[in-house]
Amino acid sequence: MSQLGEILYLSRSDVEKLGIPMNEIISIVKEAFLEKALGRTEAPPKPGIHPQKDAFIHAMPAYIPKMYSAGVKWVSGFPENERRKLPYITGVLVLNNLETGLPICIMDCSWVTAKRTGAATAVAAKHLAKEDSKVVGILGCGVQGRSNLEALTVVCNSLERVQAYDINERNLRTYVRDMTAKHGLEVLAVSSPRKAVEECDVVVTAGPILKDPKPIIEDSWFPNGSFACPLDFDSYWKPEAMRSMDKFYTDDKTQLKYYKEQGYFLDIPEVYADLGEVVGGQKPGREDCNERIMSMNLGLAIEDMATATYVYRKAKEKGVGRWLPL
Ligand SMILES: NC(=O)c1ccc[n+]([C@@H]2O[C@H](COP(=O)([O-])OP(=O)(O)OC[C@H]3O[C@@H](n4cnc5c(N)ncnc54)[C@H](O)[C@@H]3O)[C@@H](O)[C@H]2O)c1
Repeated sequence: MSQLGEILYLSRSDVEKLGIPMNEIISIVKEAFLEKALGRTEAPPKPGIHPQKDAFIHAMPAYIPKMYSAGVKWVSGFPENERRKLPYITGVLVLNNLETGLPICIMDCSWVTAKRTGAATAVAAKHLAKEDSKVVGILGCGVQGRSNLEALTVVCNSLERVQAYDINERNLRTYVRDMTAKHGLEVLAVSSPRKAVEECDVVVTAGPILKDPKPIIEDSWFPNGSFACPLDFDSYWKPEAMRSMDKFYTDDKTQLKYYKEQGYFLDIPEVYADLGEVVGGQKPGREDCNERIMSMNLGLAIEDMATATYVYRKAKEKGVGRWLPL
């Protein structure tokens, strides 16, 4: 063994084969938000570099003392990768020992990113969607469209129907087939964004993030009493639609402010509260069944580190992965 010790390397398939269920990820992510609400986490807004138009590589460090969790995710989003038959989101995540600072684990971050984002949507939906939500609209039927639906089925027990829209016919067809088989819900392929949003109780948009958005979702499409969770920044929702919300939340006010300073989110409403404040009981969530609510979730490093630390522990327990000298 090297004098510096060893690190556990977890490939994408190592992480996937642990088979950690979504309900466990939701509990972990919820606990991370609670720690954030108590002021017991450290996670500066994510800086990024942008080697291609509308592409990013973000650095996302976080420290959560209660979970003995510290590390950084280095994650890329390259929209043109679809043409190359590569995933949009790729990257790695490094966990560190809290006493020595030494790296202890490197893992592929695709699974963690997919699951923790779905889990954050579920945490938000638990507080901000109607309890008897029945219809979900998914716009963008890729990795996030899948993990977000999976997470919503855990917290929205009355779900019956999914209205799915994607600009890519083939992705849409595969999504409908797979999600019908996986969740036993009625999953409909719809022919326009409007048809995906109308009549919904919950709407998730997960298309590409655009620096210069050309949004199309109108306020009149979005029913009273519904909850929207954009994962693609303000690329899909018109400013008037966002302003028509009774309450506008985000996963982290500081990070949203940082992004505004970087030239994103030029026309969005005042933030009412962030999710940590809602989970921690410092600010109310949904207060009546007619409220129109949006949570602009940018994605937080505490969600990644909380989930990745759990993955690391499970991998050690099950002897999964490869130990490498540092
Ligand atoms: N906020 C967060 O925490 C967070 C985390 C991870 C990813 N994301 C974002 O979520 C989005 C989706 O990521 P992914 O990993 O699922 O990508 P993906 O490539 O797996 O899926 C994207 C899907 O959107 C479709 N699409 C493209 N343009 C569209 C449009 N205008 N309308 C409808 N569908 C469209 C594509 O055909 C594809 O099926 C990206 O913007 C990504 O940056 C956000």
